[in-house]
Amino acid sequence: MSKRHTITAALPYTNGPIHIGHLAGVYVPADIYARYLRIKGEEVLFICGSDEHGVAISMKAKKDGITPKEVIDKYHNIIDKAFSDFGISFDYYGRTSSKVHHEAAQEFFKTIHEKDGFETQTTDQFYDAKEDQFLADRYVVGTCPKCSNPEAYGDQCESCGSSLNANDLIDPKSAISGETPSLKTTKHWYLPLDRYETFLRSWILEGHQNDWKPNVLGQVKSWLDDGLKPRAVTRDLSWGIPVPVDGGENKVLYVWFDAPIGYISATKEWAAKEGKDWAPYWKDENTELVHFIGKDNIVFHCIIFPAVLKAMGSYILPKNVPANEFLNLEGQKLSTSKNWAVWLHEYLEDFPNKQDVMRYVLTANAPETKDNDFTWHDFQTRNNSELVAIFGNFINRVMVLIKKYYESVVPEPNEYSPVDTETLKTLAATPLKIGKLIGQYKFRAACQEMMQLARLGNKYLADEEPWKLIKTNPERVATIMHTALQIAAGLAILSEPFLPHTAQKLREMLKLDKAVCWDSLKDGISVKSKHTLGEPDLLFEKIEDEEIAAQLEKLTA
Ligand code: 2FM
Ligand code: ZN
Repeated sequence: MSKRHTITAALPYTNGPIHIGHLAGVYVPADIYARYLRIKGEEVLFICGSDEHGVAISMKAKKDGITPKEVIDKYHNIIDKAFSDFGISFDYYGRTSSKVHHEAAQEFFKTIHEKDGFETQTTDQFYDAKEDQFLADRYVVGTCPKCSNPEAYGDQCESCGSSLNANDLIDPKSAISGETPSLKTTKHWYLPLDRYETFLRSWILEGHQNDWKPNVLGQVKSWLDDGLKPRAVTRDLSWGIPVPVDGGENKVLYVWFDAPIGYISATKEWAAKEGKDWAPYWKDENTELVHFIGKDNIVFHCIIFPAVLKAMGSYILPKNVPANEFLNLEGQKLSTSKNWAVWLHEYLEDFPNKQDVMRYVLTANAPETKDNDFTWHDFQTRNNSELVAIFGNFINRVMVLIKKYYESVVPEPNEYSPVDTETLKTLAATPLKIGKLIGQYKFRAACQEMMQLARLGNKYLADEEPWKLIKTNPERVATIMHTALQIAAGLAILSEPFLPHTAQKLREMLKLDKAVCWDSLKDGISVKSKHTLGEPDLLFEKIEDEEIAAQLEKLTA
């Protein structure tokens, strides 16, 4: 029976474009998962959107001499386009500046407030007297107390990934004026996370110790073992969603309070557009909610947002939060501010129509269990030695030989040899193997399994050598080509979650019937004899050394 799935991918901040680290950590795995479930006939809602509040946006506006609204409009469009260019198949891509989102976030705040789910505290906070402004989150920079990174922000250290309080920073400075900040008294609303400790411990550490990733469980355990403290959910800032209760004047919701609610408001917008009810996607116990995020977002999705959902009552909790580690670039941390990145929109200018190559490389080398490195050399090798030499070569041989021997009409097979039978058996077993791995969030292994099938096809042709037998044993050649074609059809189906553009092209080339699908592959023969194939066309192209050299040069320029 098909199930309902709500799949979310972290909302990117619209203070800059997105790069391959974002794609590898969050969006490609989430897309593989969503595509696979859709292929299997499950009901899927895949949601994302732009995270348009927070200090990161107002700082970028100040730096560029434009308004925050101009910043978010610019990057929202760039990011939205990059996702669709790379085939990230969101059902809806929202934005947190929308009216529906502002109302949803305020409703969450008011509901929890009315249930006495917040505490207020009046404390001294950093203040820039020169700018007459409180210094929330990234407005304060200083040395990280955990890893000594001298450029840590008031809310987070990007070097070690720790979530921080501004008061924890060593030698704090205002990010606006560079001055040492003074202290000023202010009142804020806090979510008393300590009230949720027992629930979180039993839900995650006891309930999910076997199905959540060790990196996620490790971070959750360390937060819980340190003891949870009330966490401020409002800020003294001008850019953000106004605090909708008495005393909230000139204050806004903390960006991490409103951002995850963005998944829900995007669902509401999508449902309104589709004429559907949004509630089952967030409130029905039979819905499986999965959050795809990077490791720096673990605390927000496993501790803070679940506490918010629990405080609201009636919301479901995630079934899993398969957070990835980080991707580095040529041995160094990816960095937006240092421009050490491969930007998606720039990549497509240099490698038009090679979205699937990047998707493949990022999946084959995904930072699933530890940080990983992207190098241009590895990109070239995976393209030339795997996509071109194995996948592309196999498909091309099948297409060209069937055209040459049979004018593209699939031949009738004769007697199967043990190798043919074994090959078809492996093909029939592959969909289940890949599906199982995807269900366990092991996308890297799943993708390898798909490539393994192409490898098998390549080896099958190389071993059976139909080109040597065409004159002497045409009956045998017909069986070989018929069998090889079944593998090609299998690849058209099984590559779809990983390489959607290639899969589409291959399906068209093979003129596959709609009835040929993931589940039909286990029955063996997908393409019957007498079926006419389309024209052969190359699926992948070799990437030359000069192209790689140009990319390396661009990085260090
Ligand atoms: O870390 C980030 O880039 C955040 N903008 C992610 C937000 S995820 C969600 F909760 F909105
Ligand atoms: Zn640190």
